[in-house]
Amino acid sequence: ADALKVGIAGLGTVGASLVKIIQTRANELAVTCGRAIEITAITARDRNRDRGFDMSGMAWFETPEKLAAEADIDVFVELMGGATGAAADSVRIALERGLHVVTANKALLAASGVELATIAEEKGALLNFEAAVAGGIPVIKALRESLTGNTVSRVYGIMNGTCNYILTKMEKEGLSFEECLKEAQRLGYAEADPAFDIEGNDTAHKLAILTTLAFGTKIAADEIYLEGITNISIDDILAAADLGYRIKLLGVAQRTESGIEQRVHPTMVPHDSVIAQVDGVTNAVAIESDILGELLMVGPGAGGNATASAVLGDIADIAKSQPGAQRVPVLGTPAVALAPYQKAR
Ligand code: NAP
Ligand code: HSE
Repeated sequence: ADALKVGIAGLGTVGASLVKIIQTRANELAVTCGRAIEITAITARDRNRDRGFDMSGMAWFETPEKLAAEADIDVFVELMGGATGAAADSVRIALERGLHVVTANKALLAASGVELATIAEEKGALLNFEAAVAGGIPVIKALRESLTGNTVSRVYGIMNGTCNYILTKMEKEGLSFEECLKEAQRLGYAEADPAFDIEGNDTAHKLAILTTLAFGTKIAADEIYLEGITNISIDDILAAADLGYRIKLLGVAQRTESGIEQRVHPTMVPHDSVIAQVDGVTNAVAIESDILGELLMVGPGAGGNATASAVLGDIADIAKSQPGAQRVPVLGTPAVALAPYQKAR
């Protein structure tokens, strides 16, 4: 099959990680996906910045909108961020052109996800966004695919790596809120404007996306009760610990008699619960449904590689969806011959 041609708008924490992974794993990806994945077009704000990878063979476009409109690509990958402006405009242009789109942009999806999904559907394009919620955890796939047929009663969890990192560091290392936030920014976990993290908006965006997938409701991010972690002090954390609790920023969406209730706020969780043990940038998402029961997924929630891993999975899904793509990967790794199995006596 022909190579899948990919254009990437945004070469920051996530975009640069994605390019490096695709470049270093090119051979394995070609086998796993049944066709090569080639980055043929890129853009960011600053053309001259060294991003730690070789840009030769990739066409540079002056703007994301131009890339979306003119590049010779099959997939447009949006990794810039923002609910409006270049991200929103270029994604719309790409979808209108019938290109598949992959994005990690929860702010955009919370604002316009249904509208964008409708354009994609009309144009026969795929809109994939696994990385938009809980970083590398495959929660979108779980809701869209694995839980088909289930009626979901509740979705909740720790969905912001920056906040969980801050709360963990404050408790375990006694550092100040500001020091922890700075470190989260340095590690590439925080949003370009970290107010979105610490004031809870980022969790609300993610919760809105999950709510729509889980319950089939219209996205209504502005109807979510919202309280971030900016008022949490070390004293609060220590007082909670004395009582046997840890403080976590949770997003919760649940079915009630009067509709779907959605809230984001710091929550005291019992010290011995699984969710209380989720530390640092790790996220956890629980989904309660009638056929499966409770599914709890825990994993890296932010950062370049964790997020790029989910973006790459979305690109690979598109590559594999094309006729002619090989769906059974044969990497040629020799199997290890074990000694015949001996039953324990
Ligand atoms: P970032 O490091 O700030 O990178 C943003 C990139 O977009 C930069 O390369 C920037 O260009 C480019 N850009 C921004 N505005 C642009 C414009 N108007 N025109 C052209 N290029 C533009 O952000 P990030 O952390 O990689 O996040 C990217 C997206 O992934 C966001 O939607 C974020 O919410 C989402 N996300 C991030 C994480 C994470 O852990 N970081 C996890 C999940 C989802 P310059 O480099 O030239 O400035
Ligand atoms: N800023 C986000 C977080 C990135 O800290 O969780 C992952 O969506």
